[in-house]
Amino acid sequence: MRIDAILSRFGYCSRREAAQWVKRGRVTVKGVAVKSASAKAELGDVLVNGAPIEFPDGLYVALHKPLGCTCSHREEGELVYDLLPQQWLNRGDGVSTVGRLDKETSGLLLITDDGAFVHALTSPKRHVPKVYEFECAAPIPSAAVAQFASGELVLHGETTPCLPAELEITAECCGRLTLHEGRYHQVRRMMAAVGAPVLSLMRTEIGPLKLADLNLAPGEWCAIDPTMFA
Ligand code: URA
Repeated sequence: MRIDAILSRFGYCSRREAAQWVKRGRVTVKGVAVKSASAKAELGDVLVNGAPIEFPDGLYVALHKPLGCTCSHREEGELVYDLLPQQWLNRGDGVSTVGRLDKETSGLLLITDDGAFVHALTSPKRHVPKVYEFECAAPIPSAAVAQFASGELVLHGETTPCLPAELEITAECCGRLTLHEGRYHQVRRMMAAVGAPVLSLMRTEIGPLKLADLNLAPGEWCAIDPTMFA
């Protein structure tokens, strides 16, 4: 790849600015300063500001989403993207969340620039399990366990029943719910349907990935290996 294409593709600067970066000696190939932005190099041989190209094979990151930020590029207020390095957002392929969490939901959120990865994880055919933990404003009725497992619960305003979901009641007003699909405000709507409106909600697992294993404070992120979802 050309050096100017590398610098813009991976979010360092625009193609136009690449000549300046080269001139300032910020780019080396096999340890030798590059002389021209149009020179070609293998990605693995390139250092920018002394460091290898970040996420050369695609960006795959787990974020501990804090409360109060929105999974959107456009909306007003604080966005999850404000928590990420600007360089990632400048990458040629748009960076996006894998599905969404509500503004007032915290927890495990995946971020990537790989559209096929987003599709694979959010496709209704895949049924990747997602686990949510929550506290409700009222005791959770024990009958909800069978109701959710039955695959017969129809949410208000919908006609297709929810897929079977596993509810575990962990305390009178607290529970853990495993979903195999992702409908709008699904956990809140399912719990409201059984008379136990959600007060606080956190996603703790997506497929094999557990937030507890990542040691991330709210707002922190780490790289993940996407092949764990294959
Ligand atoms: N269900 C919800 O109600 N909210 C979320 O953010 C995710 C699942």
